[in-house]
Amino acid sequence: MESLESIEGNERYVFERADICNNIEIRRIFNQHQPDVVMHLAAESHVDRSIEGPGEFIQTNIMGTYQLLEQSRLYYSGLEDRKKGEFRFHHISTDEVYGDLGATEILFTEKTSYDPSSPYSASKASSDHLVRAWQRTFNLPTLITNCSNNYGPYQFPEKLIPLMILNALEGRELPIYGDGNQIRDWLYVDDHARALLHVALSGEVGETYNIGGHNEMKNIEVIKKICSILDELCPSKIKGVTSYEKLITYVDDRVGHDVRYAIDASKIKTELNWMPHETFETGIRKTVQWYLDNRTWSDHVQDGSYQSQKLEGI
Ligand code: TYD
Repeated sequence: MESLESIEGNERYVFERADICNNIEIRRIFNQHQPDVVMHLAAESHVDRSIEGPGEFIQTNIMGTYQLLEQSRLYYSGLEDRKKGEFRFHHISTDEVYGDLGATEILFTEKTSYDPSSPYSASKASSDHLVRAWQRTFNLPTLITNCSNNYGPYQFPEKLIPLMILNALEGRELPIYGDGNQIRDWLYVDDHARALLHVALSGEVGETYNIGGHNEMKNIEVIKKICSILDELCPSKIKGVTSYEKLITYVDDRVGHDVRYAIDASKIKTELNWMPHETFETGIRKTVQWYLDNRTWSDHVQDGSYQSQKLEGI
């Protein structure tokens, strides 16, 4: 709830806490709030956790999407024609559904075949298929976006970038899987949010749009960049650690680790006039600064107390 503090008092904002698998609650929320657009971002999203325990990923990402689609279909069927014309179900997905690009120069386009590697990406691929089927079979007006790796403020510190920033500040090891040469295409979260609005408001029904950051980087380069910004903004006071880079530790590789993901984002540029504003250089600086300025937020996430925070105004 602390992530939403800045908009708590806004009269255009309402918060409902519900499990997307709970069709009774979702039906009530649809009827009460009468949405024009549903943006479905609710998912289990961390590959390592999907390897440790795939069950929640199957439940939330596949069954949850199925329930949301069914509740959307029910709600949509009861709308008057004008509202039907405006309604959209927008499913937010990942480039990981396309699988591993390995050492090739290829980029993922919207036509690339699905080839997921992990329980996480397989569950997202499955949910994308459900969304397409609901469009084709039931004429639900759907949109799908597949984005590259997000980063920025408020990211849960199980993902690479926030984990490395917080570990460094606490003097803990910075674990790099394998040789650190895996490549990801980094997308600043505000750029992603802008792209999602473009698609939700102007995307063509039934279409898929890839969203990428034009920032392909090796993991080791990302971590070294974080260390150098931290060295500048918050020099280490840890004994024997003159630069945060000293904390880099190579650990066993992730099983089934995808070597490279990279997005061809030309469709969304040509058709919807969207381009990322941030370079990795500007985005990572803002991100590191945000984590330095918001230690209470990350403390509450790391100690688990965020889970019992009061739902203000409910
Ligand atoms: P992650 O943030 O988990 O995103 P994804 O697996 O969806 O790409 O990981 C990004 C990359 O960083 C990925 O290649 C795995 C690697 N990684 C590490 O080397 N060490 C870590 O501690 C983590 C969490 C990830």
